[in-house]
Amino acid sequence: MARTEPTLNPPSRAEMRPLEPIPVFAPCTGIDTIKHVTDAFDVGWLGMGATTKEFEERIAAFLELENRYVVATNTGTSALHLALLVAGIGPGDEVITPSFNYVADHQAIHAAGAEVVMCDVRDDNRGIDVAKAEALISERTKAIVPLHFAGIPCDQAGVYELARKYKLRVIEDAMHGFGTRIEGKRIGSYGDIACFSFDPVKIVTSIDGGCVIVNDPGDVERLRHYRFLGVDRETAERYKNQRAWEYDVVSEGFRYHLTNILASVGVSQIKRVEEFIRSRVEVCRRYNAAFGSVAGLRIPESDFTDVSPFIYSLRVEGGKREALIEHMKARNVAAGIHFVPVHKHAYFADARRGDMGVTDRVVEESLTIPLHSNMRPDFVERTIEAILSFYR
Ligand SMILES: Cc1ncc(COP(=O)(O)O)c(C=O)c1O
Repeated sequence: MARTEPTLNPPSRAEMRPLEPIPVFAPCTGIDTIKHVTDAFDVGWLGMGATTKEFEERIAAFLELENRYVVATNTGTSALHLALLVAGIGPGDEVITPSFNYVADHQAIHAAGAEVVMCDVRDDNRGIDVAKAEALISERTKAIVPLHFAGIPCDQAGVYELARKYKLRVIEDAMHGFGTRIEGKRIGSYGDIACFSFDPVKIVTSIDGGCVIVNDPGDVERLRHYRFLGVDRETAERYKNQRAWEYDVVSEGFRYHLTNILASVGVSQIKRVEEFIRSRVEVCRRYNAAFGSVAGLRIPESDFTDVSPFIYSLRVEGGKREALIEHMKARNVAAGIHFVPVHKHAYFADARRGDMGVTDRVVEESLTIPLHSNMRPDFVERTIEAILSFYR
C-alpha cells in the first residue's frame, strides 16, 4: 500500500477552525449576575419592589447626585417620554433634537404629543450644533434634547446657554454616557433633566431599563405617578415589596416601572461599573493608537479621559465604509452603524428640520467597531488587524 507523504507544516487544528465571530456588543455578565437574580427570585416579589429602590440608590451614588433624584423605568425610551411630560412638554410644543440620534428620542417626543424639529450635528463630536439649533427656535420651541454621542460630551455648555437665552427645558439624552464626567462632574449630576438607558447592550444593563434624573422632589412624585398608571401610592408600597390596596389615580399614567428581577441584574452590573468603564477606556485608547495614523480613517476626537465609552465609532472617509465592513465580515469581525439619520425614516420625513450638511456626511462615514467590557485581548487585536489589513 502506498504511503502518503506527510506534508510540510500542515495547518494546525486552531488554524483550520473558522475564526470565532466577534460581535459589536457582548454582555459582561457572570455568576454574580445569576446570584443576584436567584436571590431576587427567592424574595418572592417579582414586580417593582425593594430591589428597584436599591438600583435607584446605587445609580444616585454612582452618579454622585446631591439634591437630585432618580426614577427608574423599564426602558430609556420611557424615561425620555416621562422626562418630557414632567418638563411640561405637550401638544403644540416643538422639541429640538439631532437627526443623528436614535429614533427613541423622536418617538418619545411624539408620544408626549409634541413635534420633533431635527437639527444638524457638529463634525468634531457629532453632538448637536448649537448655532444651527438656535436658528430653528420658534415661538413653539419648549425643549432641546441633546445627545452625548458614544459617551463623548456634546457642547453641553452651549446647549445650556441657549436654553437660558430662550427659556427652554433641557433633557439630556445621556444613554451613551453613563459615568462620563464634564469638568469633573458626572453627566446627570447637574443641569436640568438627564435620561439613561440600561438596555441589553449598554455598559450597565438591567436587560431593559432606564432612568430619569430630576432636581425637584415634586417631579419625583409626578414621575412615579406617570410611571405606574397614575396611581398615587404605588411606589411607596411596592418599594416595601407590598401593594397598595386602596389608592387614588391622580394623573395620566403608563406601565413604565422597572421590576425587581430586572433591577437585580442592574444591581449586579452597577457594582462592577468602574471596572467595566476602565476596561473599555483601555480598548478605546488601544484603538486610537492603532488607527490614529491611518490615512482615510478618523478616530474619535477624545483621549477618553473622563469618558465612559458605550461605543467606539470611527469615521471611514472616501466612501470606503461598506467595503471595510465586508472586509471585516470576511474575518468574522462585526461592525455596526450608528445611526440611520431620523430625517431619512418614512415616519419622520416631514418633520421640520434645518440643513443636514454635516449629518448627511457623518452618517455615511460612521462605523461602530466591537467594544465590550473586559473585551478579550485577542478580540481587540483581531479587530485592529481586520481594519489595518484593509488599508495595507
Ligand atoms: C441615543 C439613544 N437614545 C435612546 C435610546 C433608547 O434607550 P432604550 O433602548 O433603553 O429604550 C437608545 C438606545 O439604544 C440610544 O442609543
